[in-house]
Amino acid sequence: MTKVRECLVHPVSVKLLKQGHPWVTADNFSNRFPRNEEFVIAMDERKRPVALLINDPLHKSIKGRVWSTKFPFDREALHFTASIQARIENAVMKREQMSELKERDNYYLVFGEADQLPGLFVQKLQDRILVQFYTGFWTRYKGILQTTFQEYFPEITDDKVWFQTRGETQASQKLPQNAGEQGKREEFHLQEFGIQYWIRLGGQYDHGLYTDMSNIRQIIKPYLNKDTKFLNLFSYTGAFSLWALKNQSQDVVSVDLSPKYIEWLQNNLGLNADLDHTKHQSMTMSVEDALDDLHKAGRKFNIILSDPPSSSSDGNKRTSAITNYKDLISRMDKVLDKGGMMIVFLNTHQVTAQKFERVITDNLKELKLNYTVRDRLRLGGDCPTLKGFPEGDYLKGLILEKKS
Ligand SMILES: C[S@@+](CC[C@H](N)C(=O)[O-])C[C@H]1O[C@@H](n2cnc3c(N)ncnc32)[C@H](O)[C@@H]1O
Repeated sequence: MTKVRECLVHPVSVKLLKQGHPWVTADNFSNRFPRNEEFVIAMDERKRPVALLINDPLHKSIKGRVWSTKFPFDREALHFTASIQARIENAVMKREQMSELKERDNYYLVFGEADQLPGLFVQKLQDRILVQFYTGFWTRYKGILQTTFQEYFPEITDDKVWFQTRGETQASQKLPQNAGEQGKREEFHLQEFGIQYWIRLGGQYDHGLYTDMSNIRQIIKPYLNKDTKFLNLFSYTGAFSLWALKNQSQDVVSVDLSPKYIEWLQNNLGLNADLDHTKHQSMTMSVEDALDDLHKAGRKFNIILSDPPSSSSDGNKRTSAITNYKDLISRMDKVLDKGGMMIVFLNTHQVTAQKFERVITDNLKELKLNYTVRDRLRLGGDCPTLKGFPEGDYLKGLILEKKS
């Protein structure tokens, strides 16, 4: 049996690993992990083995990801391939038992660390799968991953498998690649809760529908009805707008800065003849300008949803969504009816749900606005989170009700 290299890790990493945290981040210890080994065994200062790690010397910040905390680690490494298959089976079976997933063609089969497959995310998109790597480690296991999924879903032929490397640095952000044909681009539609959406693979980083938001669309359904006047800020390709229309909303406005995404939204509308298009309006401009225009025009809504990118740049200055919220809330309030709801999201692991709520409630106080927190939204369903791993719990939302 080949011996896996043992490496000392920082005492703070040891503590976190023992608490169930699945990462070892970059520091003076982990930066010295060997360059050419697939695995390392993390050791504490008394040279006791703590965890078997997937080694990722090329990653900027996450040097090791926990594969196992079960002894003996050498054997865990030896049986790695069989364990991948067993963990995929486990993840797929869990989804099979989720009845709510029967209502959509898009869902996560594997959600990274929470499915014990660190840095590996796999979406089923109708009869395709999109395998996303957040660590370069997985690249050499493409073949095994592909055949394992094809055993469960024989309809997924090689040309229906897509791979993509993703990450926080620009260098790690790659376009999806088709397994059967290099350079392929593909456009098809799939349904989520009875609504059709265009999906595009190969030509852009994101494929057009945020699957991690699907569960949230279902959760907000009880708030939508024939009296709803819905304002969708940062609408992207319009999933929340179409969902509002599907649930009989009387007035839906979508705002996005990008003409490409607004056109995509219109194409999505075009796929759904059952939705009343006359109740929808698109505004291709900044959310700030749109809110001012809507206010000047005397328009009012009873639900405003805001899902901004975690940070954005106007070419000169980079601003984060959390710091922009005070100004945004002040503008949103001017077009929200009394008794109406603001649904505000933050999409980053860098701010916890508690901190997000504190900042938003502080903003409301400073603006002297009277709102209560009606509900809290998190990842869930096919996108599980892991206790003690805030980095995996990146999406947080609040439903705020306007009292006066
Ligand atoms: C995270 S996506 C929103 C996803 C969407 N809520 C969904 O579930 O499909 C962010 C969107 O905000 C848009 N955007 C970024 N800055 C903007 C701004 N200042 N005003 C309007 N749209 C903006 C981007 O073009 C992008 O489509």
